Amino acid sequence: MAEPGKTPFQVDLRRYLREQDEDRNLTRLICEIAEASKYIVNSIRTGDLGVAGTSNLYGEQQLALDVLSDRILRKRLAHSGVVANIASEESPEILPISPDCEGKFSVAYDPLDGSSLVDVNLAVGTIVSIYEGCDLLQPGRNQVAALYILYGPRTTMVLSTGNGVHEFAMNKLMEYTLTRENITVESSGSIYSPGGQRNKYTSGVEKFVGQLEENGSKLRYSGGFVPDINQILMKGKGIFFYPHLQGAPDGKLRVLFELNPMAYLIEQAGGAASTGRERILDLTPEGIEARAPVFIGSKELVAKAEEYVAAHG
Ligand code: AHG
Ligand code: MN
Ligand code: MN
Repeated sequence: MAEPGKTPFQVDLRRYLREQDEDRNLTRLICEIAEASKYIVNSIRTGDLGVAGTSNLYGEQQLALDVLSDRILRKRLAHSGVVANIASEESPEILPISPDCEGKFSVAYDPLDGSSLVDVNLAVGTIVSIYEGCDLLQPGRNQVAALYILYGPRTTMVLSTGNGVHEFAMNKLMEYTLTRENITVESSGSIYSPGGQRNKYTSGVEKFVGQLEENGSKLRYSGGFVPDINQILMKGKGIFFYPHLQGAPDGKLRVLFELNPMAYLIEQAGGAASTGRERILDLTPEGIEARAPVFIGSKELVAKAEEYVAAHG
């Protein structure tokens, strides 16, 4: 809790983590990521929006900002002294930093999610998943922390270390100060965020969307996973899905870099995250390139989606 008599706005990230009596090395790691985000937000605001002339392990063309954001984050993590292994959405291999796992963390991150939105000036984000020790191919339920940074009109960090979900906003000194504590997602809600091409939806997903629309739900989709999930957390309700599609049974989003951290945050806020058939956090990824379909947000909406998928595929 913020010190009595002080508004939460005056509690900065490092002090908050200390007040929560967080592990010192985890606090160090999270503060290093916060530091890296200062350079990433500057590069987004002023940087080169062109292509890097390379592609990532998914064969997707990398933007200069993808590569730059990846380099900024990787450098800070590598020099933090508390990281064992790194996996980045922008590189094909796990990057070993330190052979000993004791007291260290392994980090999977998407340095810039939604990078194709930067040139149309829409919000993008950084997504980070943190495990104790050396193993990055564990089920997501073993994460010890997860966070995202949303580069929108305001730059905010939404974080959980297993004790609820909290939001910090970057102030004019570029420090993160606490703005919301213990964010929760209600069991149902009237916002839906449908990803993927509608003409490739399976019958089950098509029927699920139909009943959402019949119930008067409002469509809110920006094409950026971070702002679209942030909207559900901050409104406290709704569902995002990037489902299995005809021709793409695993959907698009990546288990290590996107689904596990967001599923951890949404579950910490009282929501749910499923592939449509099983809990995202129970998946054991085969490799760092693993993808899965996702239905994530208010518990009852996710359960409803699972019913339609079970009944109609
Ligand atoms: P990234 O920019 O890291 O490749 O991820 C983009 C993702 C995610 O932000 C969003 O939910 C999804 O791509 C949108 O995909 P479509 O462009 O196929 O809608
Ligand atoms: Mn991404
Ligand atoms: Mn990305």
